Amino acid sequence: MSVANKLRLGVNIDHIATVRNARGGEHPDPVAGAFAAIRAGADGITAHLREDRRHISDDDMERLQMLCASENIPLNMEMAAVDDMVEIAKRLKPHAICLVPEKREERTTEGGLDVAGLHNTISPIVRDLTDNGSRVSLFIEADERQIRAAAACGAPVIEIHTGAYAHALDDGDEQRAHEILTAMQQGAKLGLSLGLEIHAGHGITFNNVGQIAAIPELMELNIGHFIIGEAIFMGLEEAIGEMRRCMEDARGE
Ligand code: PXP
Repeated sequence: MSVANKLRLGVNIDHIATVRNARGGEHPDPVAGAFAAIRAGADGITAHLREDRRHISDDDMERLQMLCASENIPLNMEMAAVDDMVEIAKRLKPHAICLVPEKREERTTEGGLDVAGLHNTISPIVRDLTDNGSRVSLFIEADERQIRAAAACGAPVIEIHTGAYAHALDDGDEQRAHEILTAMQQGAKLGLSLGLEIHAGHGITFNNVGQIAAIPELMELNIGHFIIGEAIFMGLEEAIGEMRRCMEDARGE
């Protein structure tokens, strides 16, 4: 397949809220961060409304929805597949919803959703949110069983978990990184052949984005922690611009 599609960059602004919440109060405002990210060329804004509200709040989510609607930029709401989140999402009607596994004690999302094991839970939620007008994606490992299960659930999009690949590279485990990269490449091909749109995210940095972005079936990367962290040194606009340059270089765009 040729690289016909431009790879979109969704910027996850959760950790602007993490910094705000470290002190309470209103500064820095993640919605102002989303506005700056849009001005810097983000194709979409992603935010995770966690059950413990450790970063993004309900009010942030509402303001993000208003901002993205007025800027005509897709908002991707990440959330656990649980009833109270489904109710909030149905009220907000974000452009996209990414269902993720969530454990209270985890520091960040660890691993993909077990869609194969949770078909009877996930499937009706996908239908409900889709009927309500959102485009649902399932955050999963690049594993054949999970990809087939995601397609069987009726989700139009999967987001492949790239965190394990990032960790393997950080650990200097080239062999493991290569195995995971191969699985992601094959998974993206399989997903596309099943009619799914393929996204990827988690743990992506300037150093590891190249091989991921080069997977031709990918349509979107969602990147948060690294961009927000790097923005401290180089500014948000430059961090987003540099990530975009890395993505375009990898694609030969
Ligand atoms: N994609 C999903 C589904 C996530 O849960 C997260 C983390 O919230 C990301 C992408 C972004 O990961 P990171 O902050 O490591 O870039």
